[in-house]
Amino acid sequence: TEVASRTMSIIDDLKGLEGPLLPILHEIQEEFGFVPKEALPVIAEALNISNAEVHGVVTFYHDYRNHPAGRHVLKVCRAEACQSMGGDAIAAQIQQRLGIGFHETAKDNSVTLEPVYCLGLCACSPSAMLDGEVIGRLDADKIDEIVEEIRR
Ligand code: FES
Repeated sequence: TEVASRTMSIIDDLKGLEGPLLPILHEIQEEFGFVPKEALPVIAEALNISNAEVHGVVTFYHDYRNHPAGRHVLKVCRAEACQSMGGDAIAAQIQQRLGIGFHETAKDNSVTLEPVYCLGLCACSPSAMLDGEVIGRLDADKIDEIVEEIRR
């Protein structure tokens, strides 16, 4: 298949690295926008590790997705500093406004919501990142702006 052959060529480029699994997964996500299920056995075979091992790594690292992302990707920080600044309430509000939970994509494909564990913006917590741009000091107004941007 197309996925298998593109996966193979990524593996060929990177398998000489020490600890090639993470760079390979990273590249696959760059290529496809997510890590397709079909790619996992191809990786396992090429690296001579078990399917379970590959699957374990993909699920352990929160950065990989197993489905294509929506037009926007909103990552909301769920780590401690942000939590202590009301991050739980903010996360709940965002989920409610978007009508989806973490690791989900809206039905209209407008947005994928993902948790992230520290954006290095603890001083401005609670924080989030929309399409690669960080947003600090989240409050109801900023959530409104985010939702507007997503719906646009
Ligand atoms: Fe959220 Fe550091 S804990 S940015």
